[in-house]
Amino acid sequence: MSRVVYVNGEFLPEAAAKISVFDRGFLFADAVYEVTSVVDGRLVDSAAHMTRLARSLGELRIEMPFDAGEIEMIERELIKRNGLHEGGVYLQVGRGAADRDFAFPRQVKPSLVIFTQAKKLIDNPAAEKGLAVITMPDIRWQRRDIKTVQLLAASLAKQAALDAGADDAWMVENGFVTEGTSNNAHIVVDGRIVTRPLSNEILHGITRRAMLRLAGEDGIEIEERPFTVEEAQAAAEALITSAGSFVLPVVSIDGKPVGTGKPGPVTRRLRALYIDEARQA
Ligand code: PDD
Repeated sequence: MSRVVYVNGEFLPEAAAKISVFDRGFLFADAVYEVTSVVDGRLVDSAAHMTRLARSLGELRIEMPFDAGEIEMIERELIKRNGLHEGGVYLQVGRGAADRDFAFPRQVKPSLVIFTQAKKLIDNPAAEKGLAVITMPDIRWQRRDIKTVQLLAASLAKQAALDAGADDAWMVENGFVTEGTSNNAHIVVDGRIVTRPLSNEILHGITRRAMLRLAGEDGIEIEERPFTVEEAQAAAEALITSAGSFVLPVVSIDGKPVGTGKPGPVTRRLRALYIDEARQA
């Protein structure tokens, strides 16, 4: 069955959903995106995704095409039309289509594309098996806090990880882990969660934020500071967070087991708390 996709004001069958070859998202990666997870047919933490979308657009001086409430209405309509129970909604806002020119075009209308993608988020075998990651130099640009569609460096790192028989890559800059290819990276040391503080160097993950709040409410201490690969390899646990994975354990880094080499209790607890809350959304 073909999905229904939203493109610039229209709900279309996916084969008919098209954008211009002059779209600046296509030519310059001049576009930002959000992935909001869907559990039991409902958006998870949508308000936070809308706030980050507005911030990303503001940083690039792209106008928000609709207000957050209107965008959420379109997302809910797509979830309904596609009968999506579990997975995600992808939304992309671009500066628009114009003759190719490095300067921003004047009076161009931002483009908006939204589609759904089914994915098993709760019943994910990686939660029991854990992920193997390799480390790679972080070759991305310096504004990783803006969620742009410039994802080639991350895609190269992910493929290199798969080619090496691992599940994902953790990117490293100046000796410290920045983040995973499409997730935030954290470790557990002496019962505390150690996580890199927010800056331009990482995406301000919505799942990271929710996980840290849940950890705090559960009495787990949080230390916001950068950590090295060696420290992560010697940690009791390592984990990632993202809308596409929620909270998942990392059980090896560059072939070295983390802790027991099995998913640890803090990660299990945080995943369970996160899923509980997502279900109540
Ligand atoms: N990626 N860091 C990077 C580089 C990411 O691409 C993502 C999300 C995250 C986690 O952010 P959040 O918790 O808000 O999903 C961190 C999405 C899921 C993607 O590109 O598919």
